[in-house]
Amino acid sequence: LTKPIQIAIDGPAAAGKSTIAKIVAEKLSYIYIDTGAMYRAITLKALTEGINMASNDEAGQLLSKTEIDLQPSGDGQLVFLDKKDVTEAIRSQHVTKAVSEMAAHEQVRQRMVELQQQLADGRGVVMDGRDIGTHVLPEAALKVFMSASVEERARRRFEENKKRNILTPLEELQAEIAKRDKMDSERIVSPLRQADDAIFIDTTDLTIAQAAQEILKLAEERLL
Ligand code: CDP
Ligand code: CDP
Repeated sequence: LTKPIQIAIDGPAAAGKSTIAKIVAEKLSYIYIDTGAMYRAITLKALTEGINMASNDEAGQLLSKTEIDLQPSGDGQLVFLDKKDVTEAIRSQHVTKAVSEMAAHEQVRQRMVELQQQLADGRGVVMDGRDIGTHVLPEAALKVFMSASVEERARRRFEENKKRNILTPLEELQAEIAKRDKMDSERIVSPLRQADDAIFIDTTDLTIAQAAQEILKLAEERLL
């Protein structure tokens, strides 16, 4: 039996990271960890409690009384915030618009990275996020940086939202995605960027199956 590896998938919003990471994890019988869900969960709590997102102190205080737990489930992952299932609630536009500000705080990131490293420790794992290859799993055997044109990413999120009955106009979604990418790329603490040893995959013209296949091929090369 080959030793399981760690696979890190980073990239901008709606590039297809989580969809493809889930498929790859399932094929390899690895666990899948969506790290964005953690930042979304703490943001949901901040919004509920009326915390000032810009304040480092308030974010730190909130963090100290918050419990975030990810549990692998059949087709993905369940997210618990203070023991309550928030898997769906964290996908709202309200949370999406606020999350990058919350994710910029150093204390918040430190805590989340610790949790992520604990979850991945010694296991076969596919983890997606923004700083997985650069900070969370720097020794990952396979690092992928996945992107697609901003127009295509907005279109995909639009279609996905329709199924959830979220009806944000396409132009507004594209602007929101572009703004979030900019904030994530320009923050001081572990910004979104491609790790030096990551492989770039542009999914603009790839189907989900094709992108998953490409990553599985790269994984198999590393499993030999
Ligand atoms: O699914 P989508 O691309 O819309 O976003 P996500 O992966 O759920 O991440 C939401 C936000 O969390 C990102 O825009 C980042 O601000 C933050 N995030 C991060 O800072 N670091 C990570 N490893 C994952 C997400
Ligand atoms: O995790 P991330 O934000 O990078 O993206 P995602 O939530 O996995 O993908 C956003 C949407 O694009 C999903 O509804 C996917 O089904 C879709 N998608 C696609 O149509 N074609 C691809 N090659 C990848 C994703």
